[in-house]
Amino acid sequence: MYLIIVRVPNLIVMLPNNTITQFILLSFGDLHGLQTFLFVIFLAIYMITLTGNVLILTLIAFTQSLHTPMYFFLGNFSFLEIWYTTSITPKMLKTFLTVQEAISFSGCIVQFYFFVAMAGVECYLLAVMSYDRYLAICKPLRYTAIMNLKVCLRMVACSWISGFLTPVFIIVLTFRLSFCASNEIDHFFCDLGPVLKLSCTDAHAAKTTIFVIASVVTMVPFLMTLASYVNILSTILRIPSTRGKQKAFSTCSSHLIVVTLFYGTLGIVYAAPTASQSPVLNKLFSLLYTVVTPTINPIIYSLRNKEVKEALRNLIRKWPSGLSLSP
Ligand SMILES: *[C@@H]1O[C@H](CO)[C@@H](O)[C@H](O)[C@H]1NC(C)=O
Repeated sequence: MYLIIVRVPNLIVMLPNNTITQFILLSFGDLHGLQTFLFVIFLAIYMITLTGNVLILTLIAFTQSLHTPMYFFLGNFSFLEIWYTTSITPKMLKTFLTVQEAISFSGCIVQFYFFVAMAGVECYLLAVMSYDRYLAICKPLRYTAIMNLKVCLRMVACSWISGFLTPVFIIVLTFRLSFCASNEIDHFFCDLGPVLKLSCTDAHAAKTTIFVIASVVTMVPFLMTLASYVNILSTILRIPSTRGKQKAFSTCSSHLIVVTLFYGTLGIVYAAPTASQSPVLNKLFSLLYTVVTPTINPIIYSLRNKEVKEALRNLIRKWPSGLSLSP
């Protein structure tokens, strides 16, 4: 099982004493025989994710009535989801086809960087999107004045920048540790927990610091999102008519489902102790938020949203090759 471990001069200052040059992703290696099945299923899911999100981007780009802040944010979100799942899925699919899929030390850092950056952007974009819903529902008269294009662009830019800064400290702390014992990552991608398990130095201080950073980084957008929704719900409850309540709620329900799915699945893996103790459960739940939720999001938005459905119908009608589909 063990690779020939070669000691290479450390070219990068932040990586002291590392005798390991590559990791092995064990993935679902214990599920012998199921590998091909998993490959087919997850390839299909990946294709659906790409198609769904590209479709949302196309609809928003070609539909004038969807040129509003809410849909600009949704477009950015779909664009993000494509990269978020792409940081994990292609490599994961490869692990299903090979017995031992190796990933180089730097490859592991790059994958982890992009995954955390994308998850970070996702947290911030979800917060921006819920703030947008908060303004639309709680401050409808001032909405257009506050949410102008400049503000939208600024909030979107802040989300992307904050997201890309998020992993920097975590990476420096993690990959400064020594890895000299096993190089087998019991996971389908280079995630923090499984990588930290392989460190052979005392990682306690680093783990605590990483935990604090990760909690702050996710807590800030999470609390912003929560605060928006507490305000939204209290406003909706004060609307006297049932119809008015339903109408107001329908403008934010898709987003609320997406937020709940994202934080729900993330919370199960990173906050619940049982999932982190059992590698199998950890891997299964990780599949949810790395591969499955990016597929569900465009479906939720297109099925639950009248404007998106209408835009889809129009696009099919206008599309030359889609003429035969129109009634
Ligand atoms: C992202 O958001 C900005 C600002 O609202 C918008 O101009 C841009 O078109 C969006 N990008 C995508 C891909 O939807």
